[in-house]
Amino acid sequence: MSHAADHDGATRRDFIYYATAGSGAVVAGAAVWPLVNQMNPSADVKALASIRVDVADVDEGTQLTVLWQGKPVFIRHRTAAEIEEARAVDVADLPDAIARNDNDGEVPAVDANRALDEEGKWLVMMGVCTHLGCVPLGDGAGDFNGWFCPCHGSHYDTAGRIRKGPAPTNLLVPVAEFADETTIKLG
Ligand code: FES
Repeated sequence: MSHAADHDGATRRDFIYYATAGSGAVVAGAAVWPLVNQMNPSADVKALASIRVDVADVDEGTQLTVLWQGKPVFIRHRTAAEIEEARAVDVADLPDAIARNDNDGEVPAVDANRALDEEGKWLVMMGVCTHLGCVPLGDGAGDFNGWFCPCHGSHYDTAGRIRKGPAPTNLLVPVAEFADETTIKLG
């Protein structure tokens, strides 16, 4: 009995944490929307499927969270150290060896198949844990210096690949491209 009670208690705390993290992301997304709409004067139904995000002010070593199609998307400007760490990993050591990148087919989870640009400076991923959908914490969180999902302890590396914990796959990389030097188009 007491074990069950403890478990319930932990679940409730986790849920509160998740709700807080989730609403934080929504606020960040809401702040970005006016800018997105302004930059996209022909915004109509189509704009819901595709948005443009100005990343000119996203400094190296920081990330932006935008809301797209009702979900948070992480856009990270990676440091050289993060890129190096991601590229040094042997795919054979990964729990999920598939890149999970909607821009490509089923390709290996090497960093180059997940980063947006050739140099690997930009990483765009759905900010949704592939276990049960919490929003992972970023900015070097977790044992692999990438993202950490506090709900049940999933650790993602600097390329957003699952390394430890219950999440079954790497964080998903949505269809994205550079529309110009400082604008990323999602969708
Ligand atoms: S939802 Fe992220 S670890 Fe369970």
